[in-house]
Amino acid sequence: LKSTMLIDKHFKIAEVDPRLYGSFIEHLGRAVYGGIYEPGHPTADENGFRRDALEAIQALNVPIIRYPGGNFVSGYNWEDGVGPKEERKRLLELAWWTTETNEVGTNEFADWAKLVGSEVMMAVNLGTRGVDAARNLVEYCNHPSGSYYSDLRISHGYKEPHKFKTWCLGNEMDGPWQIGAKTAVEYGRLANETAKVMRWVDPSIELVACGSSSSGMSTFADWEATVLDLTYDQVDYLSLHTYYNNNENNSENFLAKSLDMDQFIYSVTAIADYMKAKKRSKKKLMLSLDEWNVWNSIGTSRAEERWHIAPPEFEDVYTLEDALAVGCFVITLLKHADRVKIACLAQLINVIAPIMTENGGPLWLQTTYFPYKHASLYGRGTVLQPITSSPKYDSKDFTDVPYLEAISVHNEEQGEITIFAVNRHLKEALDLDVDVRSFGAVSIIEYVVLEHDDIKAANTKARPNQVLPHNNGTAKVDGGQVSAVLGKASWNMIRLK
Ligand code: AHR
Repeated sequence: LKSTMLIDKHFKIAEVDPRLYGSFIEHLGRAVYGGIYEPGHPTADENGFRRDALEAIQALNVPIIRYPGGNFVSGYNWEDGVGPKEERKRLLELAWWTTETNEVGTNEFADWAKLVGSEVMMAVNLGTRGVDAARNLVEYCNHPSGSYYSDLRISHGYKEPHKFKTWCLGNEMDGPWQIGAKTAVEYGRLANETAKVMRWVDPSIELVACGSSSSGMSTFADWEATVLDLTYDQVDYLSLHTYYNNNENNSENFLAKSLDMDQFIYSVTAIADYMKAKKRSKKKLMLSLDEWNVWNSIGTSRAEERWHIAPPEFEDVYTLEDALAVGCFVITLLKHADRVKIACLAQLINVIAPIMTENGGPLWLQTTYFPYKHASLYGRGTVLQPITSSPKYDSKDFTDVPYLEAISVHNEEQGEITIFAVNRHLKEALDLDVDVRSFGAVSIIEYVVLEHDDIKAANTKARPNQVLPHNNGTAKVDGGQVSAVLGKASWNMIRLK
């Protein structure tokens, strides 16, 4: 099988906003407690943060992490998570039917994010609360001093404001499962007023309005149009959420699901631009795909037994094919880098996550860690519009699916070009010839491949090194042409300079 790709340094889609490689940590399952925070763990630092988790996350160079939810935020009183730890309340947490100890709250998370080197993307509660709690939280986090809430932060030991820049106006407010779910009109009005007042406290913040929980919602598209009609001037981004699974065990169809993500982004872009036209606005609204991933355990019930503290939840074990899907999703996000400025792999640790830990025990990396890491480290710069040709296939839900999914990013500062490519073919290798003549003479820095004979192979605590990237792929440069043989069902990163 043969495929080709032409990349030219002049065919620019957009600069990649580093926040495209964001992630998400919610007070859900063992993401916070047992994930990033576990006092008493052999690697814990003096504040109870696991150093092994910190290092695995630092290695991803995650630019921004969404917090504290998710569904959790819609019942969260931020005041319960600040101040002396011994005075914090233990509360019934109704999004996931657990007990929340509040040992970690806004300040602890801000401390931890600083260690990681990530910005925090804060979410405010628009489920049970509204304008008042949101504006107080902005004052607490971002105002320097001299007001009740900023001085309260200082009294809690945080002299400098956190200066959180990006804020989510609630979470999935269209979902009946959401605490305090709303109609589009109810939410749009509330989001607009909350945004307005939050900006009065700190005009430098950026705001994200909730889009639909998924394109499968019956209100999808109408929700976006109504919410934007009511908020357009006050918000900077509209959020998109999308999860995919292979529960029907149809790998060809599963690996084609990035075509659905592609269409989803086109659709929401169109709605945003319709609203721009309707409002005669000069503002081009950008998108925040702030929850995306493979989620095979989606739809399983919340904690079977209620009110446990940090019970294991949604601890999906990711296979090679899940990593390939993640690779296709990352490539799709890059193709839309002109409109998608923020994206969050949901989530980062223990809950549908690339990183797993055992309480009191070791940490291991799931298959999905690697495409995410490669893209985050080397997918920075200008995305180039590729001209590709590839044999295609039809699957249950998709037609004309190219076996080759590929994109390239030109990092002008470093003088490097990175090609990311997935071969969706489950049985055959795919030859890839890339025309790189516009760059002059290039050489290969490295060619990294993630593959395995068994597409269902996964890394687990018992076998953490089953699926690891290697550098033994075949690639060569010859007169402006880079040629590689993409193994069957493989994720590939070719770095050139
Ligand atoms: O990421 C897990 C959950 O998925 C989030 O809490 C929610 O926003 C979404 O439904």
